[in-house]
Amino acid sequence: MKKRILGILFFSAFIVCVFAQKREIIQPGEIWPDVDGNHIQAHGGGIIKIKKTYFWYGEQRSQGLDSKYRYVSCYSSEDLINWKFRGNVLKMLPPDSMASNWILERPKVYYNQKTNKYVMYFHLDDAKYRTAQVGIAVCNKPDGDFKYVRRFRPLGCQSRDIGQFIDDDGSAYLVFEDRPTGFHIAKLSDDYMDIVKDMTIVKAHMEGGAIVHYEGLYYSIGSELTGWRANPNKYATAPSLEGPWTEFKDIAPAATNTYGSQSTMLIKVVGSKKTTVIFMGDQWRPKTQWDSRYLWMPLEIGNGKLILPQPNPWKINLKTGEATGL
Ligand code: GAL
Repeated sequence: MKKRILGILFFSAFIVCVFAQKREIIQPGEIWPDVDGNHIQAHGGGIIKIKKTYFWYGEQRSQGLDSKYRYVSCYSSEDLINWKFRGNVLKMLPPDSMASNWILERPKVYYNQKTNKYVMYFHLDDAKYRTAQVGIAVCNKPDGDFKYVRRFRPLGCQSRDIGQFIDDDGSAYLVFEDRPTGFHIAKLSDDYMDIVKDMTIVKAHMEGGAIVHYEGLYYSIGSELTGWRANPNKYATAPSLEGPWTEFKDIAPAATNTYGSQSTMLIKVVGSKKTTVIFMGDQWRPKTQWDSRYLWMPLEIGNGKLILPQPNPWKINLKTGEATGL
């Protein structure tokens, strides 16, 4: 009898622990612990969904890493709230002639069904941001180890901040910021190992480029060029990726500087009742990068309008697609 009671007590304690760890809400701007309790390190990130699992890749900026390397982290989740650290899927020394203070930012991973490979693009640069290239690394599985392949300027153009867009028909695009000409949305080759065609070059200087296809319109978001400092992010719409694109308008009251954040991606969740588009942004802390935060909020979107509401805790039901504030 005593044993049974002890057993029940242990079991209940176990259940309490398991459920206590499960998070129900997204709290924009707060520390976001992964399932092991460590603040998620996936800055300037990108997300892909493989079957039921979301994979979030980003800049790994933890303290105490070996500074000889640059790291890309990977997390996985089935609910977009509870994330498991899957490891640093890229750990890279400076490629060929790059100096040791080179920069790797904004990694994005695409899964290519034809080759069954995961292809990572990232912004590769020198400390003064003059190299302006993308780097590519590949892997046979989503969680590493990715192997570096090459670096280049897409379509021969300067490329700094990059963004990822996968259309409803599965076609894959890279968004990149080219200072002389503007904001490119360019198609990847069949094997995703190259950039083959500009769909459009929007004559605006936008970083943190992100795109979503929603109710027949393309919405693109970008931020102005103010480095780590937040600015009023803007959006434009077009009936097709080729344009014509409207003028850019603020996504939030300009004085809030996008609530202190910068766009990195838009995630579309299609549920049985609703389609929700999530703004995924970074709140950078340049002097303590490991403590940089994430601002994720469901957008008010439709009929050519897009608004980032004031950040507040919220949750999402992936089955129905409904996002609710608290
Ligand atoms: C931001 C950019 C970041 C990083 C930073 C450096 O504008 O979005 O990814 O490059 O500048 O100052």
